[in-house]
Amino acid sequence: MSESLSYPDHILHLKPYVPGLPIEDLARRLGVEPSSIVKLASNENPQGASPRALAALAAARIDLSRYPDNDCTNLVGAISRRHDVPCDWVVCGAGSEAVIGNAVSTMLTTGRKTLYSQYSFQAYVGACQRVGATPIVVPSPAFAVDLGAMRAQLSNGVSLIYIANPGNPTGTAVDPDDLAAFVASVPQSVVVILDEAYFEYMPEAIRGDSIALVRKHPNLLVSRTFSKAYGLAGLRVGYGIAQAPLAEMLRRARAPFSVSESAQIAAEAALDDGEFIARTVQLNRECQKMLHAALDRLRINYLPSTTNFVLAEVGDGAALARRLERHSLIVRPVNSYGLPNWVRFSLGTVADTERLIHALTLTE
Ligand SMILES: Cc1ncc(COP(=O)(O)O)c(C=O)c1O
Repeated sequence: MSESLSYPDHILHLKPYVPGLPIEDLARRLGVEPSSIVKLASNENPQGASPRALAALAAARIDLSRYPDNDCTNLVGAISRRHDVPCDWVVCGAGSEAVIGNAVSTMLTTGRKTLYSQYSFQAYVGACQRVGATPIVVPSPAFAVDLGAMRAQLSNGVSLIYIANPGNPTGTAVDPDDLAAFVASVPQSVVVILDEAYFEYMPEAIRGDSIALVRKHPNLLVSRTFSKAYGLAGLRVGYGIAQAPLAEMLRRARAPFSVSESAQIAAEAALDDGEFIARTVQLNRECQKMLHAALDRLRINYLPSTTNFVLAEVGDGAALARRLERHSLIVRPVNSYGLPNWVRFSLGTVADTERLIHALTLTE
């Protein structure tokens, strides 16, 4: 007699996370060297990893037979000095995705509600679905988080609010004063996650001071990552900053040993690599300008980017992505965000950007 497995409803309805197409998959399909493929699909750093991180890894003597430091002591110390916050305000995770997921499993369970904007980062939405939480999704007709509409939902008994600033895949940012006023309006029993994965790329004028907000609000968690500007996406390391009582609950609820020793060593060194960050941001600005200008020329509508990717309205996004694959370019269709007419272009090197612009001109 065969009995079928019985899954909880919220698990049965999960959809898999859709990542960017791997370089090797396209290289195999086209019969070309992986090095000839340009991937502009996962918002990675086109200059590679922080040189300081690479040097620290090369010099480290890592004993792979040992578990890593569960408390990430040295990395936490470096982050606490960087932001001038106590060590017990810092929580590390295997990517900021893990820190955010950690906050989700701390605050949400079946029957609890979460509030977020339309077009929010898939991984957040997935994490909430995995715990069976009920979403309240605020429409975003202008592709930016509508803080007024979010505020109107606060009386709805939500436990966790998620705001990515800038958002992915939109690349739009909220006004720092509006954000500060919104956070101040949230009841202290409700946790707010402010996801700043792309913080380093934001123009200074619109950055705001999220760490100052954490000092004021015991219900705010700011998350940052080493995956983007620091170029360490493959190592999986990010962190959150929240006042000690919330940070302590996050530490209790997180998976043990999730940040490898390599990741801890590289991230600690990368944090001091100001020169690399400056170079990264400068290149990003240059390529952002190039791509914005080309999209203007090609009369392709796009959302002016505050980060390292641009969301453009191209007609059938998946079809354009397939056409670009023939030019050995990987870009990101965003159907899974309910945006079938758009694609997301990560900003690469100048040469990558020229290649993308050339291919876009040909595929017009
Ligand atoms: C808005 C946003 N938040 C968080 C992340 C997670 O990054 P990671 O887990 O690599 O730190 C990403 C990655 O693409 C992102 O776009």
